[in-house]
Amino acid sequence: MDAFEINKIAGAVLAALLVIFGSKTALDLVYKEHKPAKPGWALPVTEVSTAPTSAAPAAPFNAKEVLALLAKANADAGQDLFKRCLQCHTPDKGGPNRVGPNLWGIVDRARGAAPGFPYSDALKKHPGKWTFEELAKYLHDPKTDIPGNKMAFAGIKDNAELADLLVYLRKLSDTPAPLPQ
Ligand code: HEC
Repeated sequence: MDAFEINKIAGAVLAALLVIFGSKTALDLVYKEHKPAKPGWALPVTEVSTAPTSAAPAAPFNAKEVLALLAKANADAGQDLFKRCLQCHTPDKGGPNRVGPNLWGIVDRARGAAPGFPYSDALKKHPGKWTFEELAKYLHDPKTDIPGNKMAFAGIKDNAELADLLVYLRKLSDTPAPLPQ
């Protein structure tokens, strides 16, 4: 082995050392420059947030909240909302039944009491009066309130809108029912 060959080997070893230590130093430099809050390399992790988002599920419906809004509710806005009902209901005194029964005097009227209207068995098996509270529950979600009833209407989900509608329905009477206290 001559000096030239020893040089070649030494050179190769040095080069290898340079790669090993050099890359470590380069990593250290990057590491220091970024000053991570936690030691180690941050890996891209998709965080699963447990904090409630703005789209948190709505609180369960409570008819009492609608009743509390009745005092401030707006019957004109309610009349406007009633356009969604006109397709199936008449609101006037002595008005005909359509797809749904006439709604004159509906507040505090017995359930299923419009003369000549063919109510579903589901509704007929649900005795009692249409109080403000019962109307709020039914009009919020007809399907859930009286399962199997045949009013094909999704319901009004906004409490203030429901209150507006109820004070309008209240006016469909010669002697409007007193507002709940
Ligand atoms: C697609 C037609 C349709 C629409 C829209 C509709 N209803 Fe009805 N509604 C019916 C039918 C049909 C019934 C009878 C349900 C049964 O017998 O099961 C009914 C029943 C009712 C009853 C019970 C009446 C009673 O005499 O017991 C009320 C109160 C009522 N609807 C209010 C409303 C209001 C208020 C709206 C609008 C926000 C509305 N409905 C929208 C079809 C409709």
